Amino acid sequence: MSITRRCVCPGSYDPVTLGHLDIIRRAAVLYDEVVVAVLHNPAKEGLFTPQERLQLIDAELADAGLSTVQALVFENRLLVDVCAEMGIGAIVKGLRGETDYSYELPMAVMNRRLSGVETLFLPGDPAYTEVSSSLMKEVARFGGDISGLVTPRVHEALRARCLP
Ligand code: PNS
Repeated sequence: MSITRRCVCPGSYDPVTLGHLDIIRRAAVLYDEVVVAVLHNPAKEGLFTPQERLQLIDAELADAGLSTVQALVFENRLLVDVCAEMGIGAIVKGLRGETDYSYELPMAVMNRRLSGVETLFLPGDPAYTEVSSSLMKEVARFGGDISGLVTPRVHEALRARCLP
């Protein structure tokens, strides 16, 4: 009997960046199935609606041919409850540096305390060290060049949303 090994790549994805897509692609090598969970972060105000974020991710996954990855929106849910419901064995997140580690560690410890689910950290690709959704939004808002850091589709969506 074979067991499907499933992980989740959770995040706000407002919007998805090339850094996110790199982690998702690498998680798909390690696991049979990957769930990209678009979740609410109460500390962050959204530029795109959860459904808009999902549409952007779906389009990128289709372009990348990542057939074992599915993206879903979960509103007002704990990540650990999503994991339990979907039979997800691990949370996979990327770390760009120490600041990410300080931010991610308490969540990883809390998620393990709540349900036993483990978090695995992948080192972020150095090519995307400066890439965060927040920074992409800020640079796009003032017309800066973020090509090579987000996909052309996401770049266009940011331009359309941010520029007058
Ligand atoms: O991309 P982000 O904003 O760093 O992702 C953070 C996110 C959305 C993964 C986190 O806030 C989260 O898991 N939210 C869902 C609610 C939850 O489970 N909160 C407790 C975390 S210990």
